[in-house]
Amino acid sequence: MASVFHNQTIWIVGASTGMGESLARALAKEGAVLYLSARSQDKLDRLVQELGSQHTALALDVSDISACAKVVADIQHSTTRLDRVIFMAALYEPTRIADITPEQFRRMVDVNLVGAFHIVSAVLPWMRQNQKGQISLCGSIAGYRGLPKGQPYSATKAALINFTESLRSEEREYGLDIKLISPGFVRTPLTDKNSFDMPMIIEADTAARAILKGLESSRFEVAFPWLFTCLMKVLRLLPYGIYFSVTRRMI
Ligand SMILES: NC(=O)c1ccc[n+]([C@@H]2O[C@H](COP(=O)([O-])OP(=O)(O)OC[C@H]3O[C@@H](n4cnc5c(N)ncnc54)[C@H](OP(=O)(O)O)[C@@H]3O)[C@@H](O)[C@H]2O)c1
Repeated sequence: MASVFHNQTIWIVGASTGMGESLARALAKEGAVLYLSARSQDKLDRLVQELGSQHTALALDVSDISACAKVVADIQHSTTRLDRVIFMAALYEPTRIADITPEQFRRMVDVNLVGAFHIVSAVLPWMRQNQKGQISLCGSIAGYRGLPKGQPYSATKAALINFTESLRSEEREYGLDIKLISPGFVRTPLTDKNSFDMPMIIEADTAARAILKGLESSRFEVAFPWLFTCLMKVLRLLPYGIYFSVTRRMI
């Protein structure tokens, strides 16, 4: 039986490394036609060379709204429909709040949160017109609650979760499927920056397989690995007194 992704046009934003890159490989294997974006043109070109000339590299910085609109216009020139958009782009620095510069803070908000809005607003009119399509935004279990040494990354992910919930509520009537991707720890260039032991960490290829399965399902949240995300959800329910005694131990 042909894969549901076969011949689908899919735009992956944040495809040059990590989970986005693994997703590109997995979706290409399923027969999807891919548009791949991130800032690093060289890495995207190499990936297209590896995956085949039916795929296209379109470099952009998601914090630049006109660059996002231009890439969508370029995609519209080469295809009549866009089946799925997967937003994986993010910046992360493991830093204590006292050590973050205002520039670092702004940059992370601009990429992780405002960047997601730029991508969504660039594709929404087109997808609404087609009354079909799926938009998946990558949050994180780090957005479930405020964790030590994770700001403003955790705050951007908490806001992204909230944003995606609203998007899901608003866009259902236009026939659009909105999904929230919630990974636990995954070995990628992003987590290579962590100096602590990451519980239940998985490889990027395993994460990509879990995401593909989730995109096919009717569930809103694509959370993995299952056990770790369940534990983090329990942490989310704890009253502040107990929660802060847990985070004190983390520090
Ligand atoms: N790894 C984990 O444990 C984990 C856990 C939970 C959630 N996540 C989330 O999963 C997603 C993928 O992360 P990853 O772990 O695979 O990290 P990664 O390897 O660092 O990938 C991040 C991607 O975002 C792109 N990017 C960064 N800034 C950008 C910008 N301004 N414009 C366009 N693209 C930009 C990067 O490419 P360029 O540098 O070429 O632009 C890269 O392709 C992120 O949303 C992350 O927050 C990761």
